[in-house]
Amino acid sequence: MKLFEGRTAMVTGAGKNMGKEIALSFSKNGANVIVCDYNEEAAKETAEEIRALGVEAMLAVCDVRDREKIFAYVAEAVERFGKVDYLVNNAGGSAGLLKKLTRFVDAEQSTLDFVIDTNLKGAMHCAQAVLPSMIKQRYGKIINISSIAAVCGLYDRVDYAAAKAGMIGMVKALAMEVGEYNICVNAISPGAIERDGKRGTHMTYMGENGMGGTTKDIADTVLFLAYQDYITGENIIVDGGRSLGPSHR
Ligand SMILES: NC(=O)c1ccc[n+]([C@@H]2O[C@H](COP(=O)([O-])OP(=O)(O)OC[C@H]3O[C@@H](n4cnc5c(N)ncnc54)[C@H](O)[C@@H]3O)[C@@H](O)[C@H]2O)c1
Repeated sequence: MKLFEGRTAMVTGAGKNMGKEIALSFSKNGANVIVCDYNEEAAKETAEEIRALGVEAMLAVCDVRDREKIFAYVAEAVERFGKVDYLVNNAGGSAGLLKKLTRFVDAEQSTLDFVIDTNLKGAMHCAQAVLPSMIKQRYGKIINISSIAAVCGLYDRVDYAAAKAGMIGMVKALAMEVGEYNICVNAISPGAIERDGKRGTHMTYMGENGMGGTTKDIADTVLFLAYQDYITGENIIVDGGRSLGPSHR
């Protein structure tokens, strides 16, 4: 029997890169997966790869900012699979998605709203949508992909750092509220991780030693947290030492 056989995992931003790797890792270990992404083509590709592994994939093509659609898709998933056991809030990104990275003093209000709504409120919508099913079965894991920016800061991304730090606050407070239902809530803060096949050495002080993270580094940490029943309210930093600061020889 596979580790997550009979379980259901919802992964947001599952169309590409980190989210895709996480979704495939769950399905390789036997879970059915709700593939959530606003990029329909990418979501369909991930879903096809999941089905080829012999488990079910349900498409949830929407923006995590769209609370109504998120709730509707989760209701459909509960109808189809009976429950949602794992939620991975992975969809997100900085103002770079809008090509609007800038010093905070110059940031437009619409950009601040976009970054906070996508990274923080999107994660809140998804968590609220899955919680009734998790509470009912007295089991669940909510895993949130934050960022090293929340811990160390990052130039031109004040809104992003604040949203990702907000996620860590959400994790701690929510973990307190739902512990009595055996629901664990945690964050993972990646450092530089490969994207679209390019090594993740951006924004890292460890670039000089060539250390760059892979999507597998993050997916493995997600599976670890999905498997553990006694770690909650934590933020696990997976950054190849970036948060140690610059290294001086
Ligand atoms: N790559 C890194 O170095 C790094 C480092 C720290 C944190 N992170 C965080 O990890 C997560 C994944 O990063 P990545 O590099 O794989 O991102 P990516 O941009 O490569 O992929 C993100 C996926 O999420 C989808 N998506 C984006 N916004 C969405 C929304 N509002 N609703 C639904 N789907 C949406 C995209 O279509 C895409 O498929 C993000 O939250 C990011 O902030 C990434």
